[in-house]
Amino acid sequence: MAAGGVAVFIVCHLLLLSYLSYSLPLCTNSRAPFTPKKALDFCSYNGSVCCDSAEDLQLQKQFQSMNVSDSSCAAILKSILCAKCDPFSADLYTTKSTLRTIPVLCNSTSSVNSVQTKSAANAFCDKVWDTCQNVSVFNSPFAPSLQGGVPENSTVSKLTDFWQSKPVFCEDFGGSAVDGSICFDGDPVTLNKTEPPNPPSGMCLEKIGNGSYLNMAPHPDGSDRVFFGNQAGKIWLATVPEMGSTGTLGFDESTPFIDLTDEVHFDTTFGMMGMAFHPDFARNGRFFVSFNCDKVQSPECSGRCSCNSDVNCDPSKLTPENGVQPCRYHTVISEYTANGTATEGSLKTSASPSEVRRIFTMGLPFTGGHGGQIIFGPADGYFYFMMGDGGSRGDPYNFSQNKKSLLGKIMRLDVDNIPSAKEINDLGLWGNYSIPRDNPFVDDKDLQPEIWTLGMRNPWRSSFDSERPSYFISADVGQETYEEVNLITKGGNYGWHIYEGYSLYKAPGSPEANSSISSVNTILPVMGYSHSDVNKNEGSASITGGYVYRAQTDPCMNGRYVYADLYANYLWAADETPENSGNFTSNLIPFSCAHDSPIQCASVAGSPLPTLGYIYSFGEDNRKDLMFLTSTGVYRVVRPSRCNYTCSKETAPSPTSPGSNPSSPSSGYRVRTLQTELGLLLSSFLLILPGFFL
Ligand SMILES: *[C@@H]1O[C@H](CO)[C@@H](O)[C@H](O)[C@H]1NC(C)=O
Ligand SMILES: *[C@@H]1O[C@H](CO)[C@@H](O)[C@H](O)[C@H]1NC(C)=O
Ligand SMILES: *[C@@H]1O[C@H](CO)[C@@H](O)[C@H](O)[C@H]1NC(C)=O
Ligand SMILES: *[C@@H]1O[C@H](CO)[C@@H](O)[C@H](O)[C@H]1NC(C)=O
Ligand SMILES: *[C@@H]1O[C@H](CO)[C@@H](O)[C@H](O)[C@H]1NC(C)=O
Ligand SMILES: *[C@@H]1O[C@H](CO)[C@@H](O)[C@H](O)[C@H]1NC(C)=O
Ligand SMILES: *[C@@H]1O[C@H](CO)[C@@H](O)[C@H](O)[C@H]1NC(C)=O
Ligand SMILES: *[C@@H]1O[C@H](CO)[C@@H](O)[C@H](O)[C@H]1NC(C)=O
Ligand SMILES: *[C@@H]1O[C@H](CO)[C@@H](O)[C@H](O)[C@H]1NC(C)=O
Ligand SMILES: *[C@@H]1O[C@H](CO)[C@@H](O)[C@H](O)[C@H]1NC(C)=O
Ligand SMILES: *[C@@H]1O[C@H](CO)[C@@H](O)[C@H](O)[C@H]1NC(C)=O
Ligand SMILES: *[C@@H]1O[C@H](CO)[C@@H](O)[C@H](O)[C@H]1NC(C)=O
Repeated sequence: MAAGGVAVFIVCHLLLLSYLSYSLPLCTNSRAPFTPKKALDFCSYNGSVCCDSAEDLQLQKQFQSMNVSDSSCAAILKSILCAKCDPFSADLYTTKSTLRTIPVLCNSTSSVNSVQTKSAANAFCDKVWDTCQNVSVFNSPFAPSLQGGVPENSTVSKLTDFWQSKPVFCEDFGGSAVDGSICFDGDPVTLNKTEPPNPPSGMCLEKIGNGSYLNMAPHPDGSDRVFFGNQAGKIWLATVPEMGSTGTLGFDESTPFIDLTDEVHFDTTFGMMGMAFHPDFARNGRFFVSFNCDKVQSPECSGRCSCNSDVNCDPSKLTPENGVQPCRYHTVISEYTANGTATEGSLKTSASPSEVRRIFTMGLPFTGGHGGQIIFGPADGYFYFMMGDGGSRGDPYNFSQNKKSLLGKIMRLDVDNIPSAKEINDLGLWGNYSIPRDNPFVDDKDLQPEIWTLGMRNPWRSSFDSERPSYFISADVGQETYEEVNLITKGGNYGWHIYEGYSLYKAPGSPEANSSISSVNTILPVMGYSHSDVNKNEGSASITGGYVYRAQTDPCMNGRYVYADLYANYLWAADETPENSGNFTSNLIPFSCAHDSPIQCASVAGSPLPTLGYIYSFGEDNRKDLMFLTSTGVYRVVRPSRCNYTCSKETAPSPTSPGSNPSSPSSGYRVRTLQTELGLLLSSFLLILPGFFL
């Protein structure tokens, strides 16, 4: 029961955050708007919408049954019914987490906002009242009996039957409680366009570590410490040097936080691929590691094969990739604890390598494409797990589109409520977790309930925007031609292997592009790049997803999504214009290394360009400063002026007080504040604490 209460709370917070504060095109069922194959017949929406033709027909029937004689009022009521199809319907129909039957109608007072293009003169709520107040309507959607259900019998009513005056009517249906939120003015919502800002002149880096890591996560206590994990299976806890100091990452390489190299199978495409610290880690000591293991080497390494009869797959019929038998290697998620060491709470600096619980195990069909990143959602507290299609060029067994397969999916699990072994078995789960009850396919027998999204190829680095937790951005590595970035929405299908990027995928040697499009409602990427943009040799490109930059350090990068190519030293920053529209424009960003970098950056002879090596991943610390994790070390984004880049918004650095000790949590990092304690009291899940966004 308690868990249910918490879940409701989390959902409310999620709704508040994602629907009220920010306007992102989103439908009421949390799904992304889509472009129907055929224009809607009744509702004159075009482009991206939230209705399919069946819903459009339904709305038409509802409208006809209303039998509105007055044509002006009829046009208004039709526009109101059709707002269901608006790509911003989630904003229009949701207030304070409850779903409305009538969209928020622009009020004379509240329509003065800079978000929408329409001016204040359009007081749509007034217009609805003035035009329709005396008009008789069958089954009026405004009738209180309809507020929340379908009536049993037809009734005719006027607005004046229920509301005495315009102010009372507009009190109920008008306006928008939150400043800058969206309202319906009779026409499809269009956002006020702002001029695209100029891209910054360049990004300045400093090198603060020599180690090569795949993962970084800030300490959930909000301090200046971060965890680094390498591919072989070790995790270190390091102190981030004060910005502007000459310090480097503070930690002792010979004393890792945990050493799992005995469990981890480490090879080119295998290793420790992800790590996630529980939001409440400082208190409960729980953390999770995602890695690969080899059944031949380790008896602990065994689980169900991803190629099985449920997905019409016979392991003995798979063509082994690189001569490796299917399901010799596994992807495993294990839980460990930092308890039991001499120090407690935030001071824990090491953990025992003995597994507390096996969260997930799945045998892999091939050697490549198995993602493996794990992240706790900052708003909902659930555990997101990015899984690739399992490898083999073109996903020949169609795992990513297969609804019964967990390959090529982003999953969403609840690791706080562990069911009994019997329940796990009855439900056919892949380990010790439960299914969040608002997962998109919990009630759909055709789909695995773990699935959050389908049609991924190999999501390599996903992140939540720390200022807008509804923005879950995932970079998906391409196959032949295109590297893509997706804006993740619940239940979305991102198209692989029917689409690669924006185009239908044509398997090598096949004359035709994949022709099963009709069965898939693909959500196209929001940005990306072609292989030909970075390298003439097809195949040698691989995207590394980053973060929406939110640090104060480089104000010209603020709000831009940063990503890179793994092989080429190419870096992009994407602007979203208008803000919150999902319309991103990527620009290649020059970068260089500060001449006063704590560790000198190696550079290409005769050029200021630092040789970063392979850009494996990015990390964000508790101050939202961005790090590059590369094969040659750890680089941090610093003030542009340190590389002679101009950024007019850059302010002079605040003088660092002499003698300040960089190893103690500095005032710049938020440790637990009053705000976060309130968050704790309210929801049991801190929504505002910076350290949660790993
Ligand atoms: C969509 O509708 C608007 C207004 O009705 C119109 O201006 C625009 O040209 C249409 N766009 C397309 C692609 O049909
Ligand atoms: C619709 O309204 C007109 C008069 O306004 C009436 O004659 C007609 O019978 C109504 N139709 C239905 C289906 O109620
Ligand atoms: C768009 O927003 C700007 C400022 O944010 C505001 O000054 C302008 O009036 C808005 N435009 C419209 C058409 O509402
Ligand atoms: C509606 O009826 C009221 C009262 O009978 C009247 O004052 C008002 O002018 C009418 N409005 C319209 C638009 O007909
Ligand atoms: C619907 O019809 C039933 C039976 O005819 C009646 O008892 C009930 O009051 C009606 N409801 C409304 C809202 O008119
Ligand atoms: C809409 O305007 C009316 C006055 O016309 C006011 O009473 C009401 O509170 C406003 N509604 C909202 C939600 O702001
Ligand atoms: C998307 O952004 C580009 C570049 O900033 C701009 O030209 C275009 O108008 C935007 N599109 C929409 C639909 O706002
Ligand atoms: C990093 O490597 C460089 C070059 O080998 C060396 O000079 C420097 O001391 C190292 N720094 C750290 C912090 O390990
Ligand atoms: C770790 O310590 C916390 C706090 O005392 C406790 O709630 C938790 O159960 C412990 N975990 C393990 C695995 O012992
Ligand atoms: C659940 O965790 C326990 C302890 O690690 C493990 O023995 C068991 O196999 C796990 N169950 C599943 C289904 O993985
Ligand atoms: C892949 O699977 C989907 C979903 O089961 C199916 O609709 C589609 O036809 C399959 N495509 C191929 C090429 O096998
Ligand atoms: C930046 O400009 C200063 C002064 O003009 C110069 O000394 C320095 O070398 C320049 N730094 C870089 C990285 O170009």
